[in-house]
Amino acid sequence: MRFLITAGPTREAIDPVRYLTNRSSGKMGYCLAEAAVHEGHSVLLVSGPTSLDIPHGVDFLPVESAQEMYDAVKNQAPYADAAILSAAVADYRPVFVPNRKIKKTGERMILELERTGDILGSMRTEFGFSGVLIGFAAETHDVEDYARGKLERKRCDMVVANDVSRRDIGFDSSENEVMLVYPDRTELLEKAPKTQIALRIIEHASRLAQEKGASC
Ligand code: CTP
Repeated sequence: MRFLITAGPTREAIDPVRYLTNRSSGKMGYCLAEAAVHEGHSVLLVSGPTSLDIPHGVDFLPVESAQEMYDAVKNQAPYADAAILSAAVADYRPVFVPNRKIKKTGERMILELERTGDILGSMRTEFGFSGVLIGFAAETHDVEDYARGKLERKRCDMVVANDVSRRDIGFDSSENEVMLVYPDRTELLEKAPKTQIALRIIEHASRLAQEKGASC
């Protein structure tokens, strides 16, 4: 199977020396890429900037901004059997990006932001993707409900939900505990190293692909 996996944060330029980003380390996405290769699959990893080593055996496509990730996924989606979008994509970017450094003037400054393209939300619509689609949801409360909403709105086969209010898992940690939210049920993957969680997610993705294949 060919997996397309997104990982890491994005960077949205404010001016030539500054940007907006988030705390994603990229670990979960890189573990997923490694796990998929380990299971004998072919992998394209589309990654925002991280400090991680590129996993052996993956095709690697580095990007910076949400728009670059959007374009890369749009171009590559037709070649994938399964897409796992684990990147923490910026939801907003600065409207105007001057090509010279912004100098400080008054005591306050207002930065105007606009929405970035929703990659996960475009997969079934603009990109016409019909393979296995897995999204991620990082929530601080009502985790399962929000994840199920996302699953339905973005027509995913499964959403991997993280509780980011917990400090012992997620973001920069090497462990995670996630809920796998399906249309008809939810499965808990108890706290374990991200490498283990990743293997389980790849197993679920392969099973979903087999089921899809069987129903076609
Ligand atoms: N995602 C994406 N493109 C974006 C933003 C998010 O593909 N521009 C993907 C992430 O990779 C992840 C999922 O969408 O798989 C996370 O969804 P989120 O941004 O939390 O979704 P929303 O429904 O917009 O949630 P919220 O209302 O919490 O912002």
